[in-house]
Amino acid sequence: MNYPLDPENFPKEDADSESVYTCLSSNPFQSYASSRTSVSDRSSDRSSSPTLSVISITSSVREQAIANEHGRGINTHSEIYRLPADAEEVERLNVQHAMLKEIMGKYPRPLAEVLVDDIPGEPKTILDLGCGSGSWIFEAAADFPHCELVAVDLVPLQNLGMPSNCRSERDDINLGLEHYYGSFNFVHTRLICTGIKDYARLIDQISQVLRPGGLVEMLEFGFQLYDRNKQLVTVSLGSYEPPWFPRFMALICIAVSVRGGCLDASGKLYSWVKEIPAFTDIVHTRHWVPWSPWLEGTDPETKRLNALGALMSEDIKQFLKSGRPLLLGSGLPESHIDELTLRCLREIEEGRTPYYILLEHVYARHR
Ligand SMILES: C[S@@+](CC[C@H](N)C(=O)[O-])C[C@H]1O[C@@H](n2cnc3c(N)ncnc32)[C@H](O)[C@@H]1O
Repeated sequence: MNYPLDPENFPKEDADSESVYTCLSSNPFQSYASSRTSVSDRSSDRSSSPTLSVISITSSVREQAIANEHGRGINTHSEIYRLPADAEEVERLNVQHAMLKEIMGKYPRPLAEVLVDDIPGEPKTILDLGCGSGSWIFEAAADFPHCELVAVDLVPLQNLGMPSNCRSERDDINLGLEHYYGSFNFVHTRLICTGIKDYARLIDQISQVLRPGGLVEMLEFGFQLYDRNKQLVTVSLGSYEPPWFPRFMALICIAVSVRGGCLDASGKLYSWVKEIPAFTDIVHTRHWVPWSPWLEGTDPETKRLNALGALMSEDIKQFLKSGRPLLLGSGLPESHIDELTLRCLREIEEGRTPYYILLEHVYARHR
């Protein structure tokens, strides 16, 4: 069997971040990519009807939606999104949700106005695309009890305490959102780009899903690391040397791109939203978060960032496990992943390497 991600197969010259992507586009295993991504077009539970596909939430439905792959539970619906959907990942996403609230706050500023309960008998509506563990939508359901909420994911939510104003739908966002057009006051998406084929199209469709005056909020991460001066950390995939975690992430980037995920979404989010005339009052924030508590100083801002860095490092340790089936499934040898993972863990434990993670956050109103 070929090893599409075997470092031996990568160009030997130094690669800066752009050339990592260049290397992706000139990947010798491009044909592998196109044959894999076409599978997702065939896998759908969606009927051709434009009506909503509501699935009752039972454990058997959830079990059917997940299959064991390389020791983790992976969704059976999409060949593009290959991060786990099992209990361990649910726990990681729940903890990550708490961290993200610390970083960016709970809701965008205009939300209270958008969701105000002003028309009797016409509840405001909220859509969470790629809801994951449901941590965000369960809180939103409690915070806005007068609203109706829909959670969409490749794997249905299973929560015995499912709020009565919330329902779960199993669907692949890549199949289109036409059945939701004109139906929602607020659309939320967070960290879904690895499962999205065409993010620009998704944003365009969200603009049509929103009702007039509605609000969209999106957060994405580009799977790259930045140094203390906020310059991109580059890795040479033709050699095997530090920096280790950026190397791990570069391999994840290749695996995601080969499968057809949209990794440039975070960097382009803002410009894509700006291109759509239906959007106004666009707010773009870049959140720089240390990957560990490496910052020096005792002022309140440094302390705050280091507290976030401590949370981020725990998330990263869990992510090293989450990314493993994706890398294994892409043909990278287990021994290579194990060794690289150990080196990443050592790098993060030593806490000396000054990396930043960059989160791109955009929200906008529909005219
Ligand atoms: C990294 S998780 C983030 C979950 C959640 N948004 C959060 O921030 O906690 C990405 C989620 O998006 C879902 N997802 C990715 N691609 C999808 C697609 N094409 N259609 C539906 N859900 C998708 C995955 O199944 C997964 O639950």
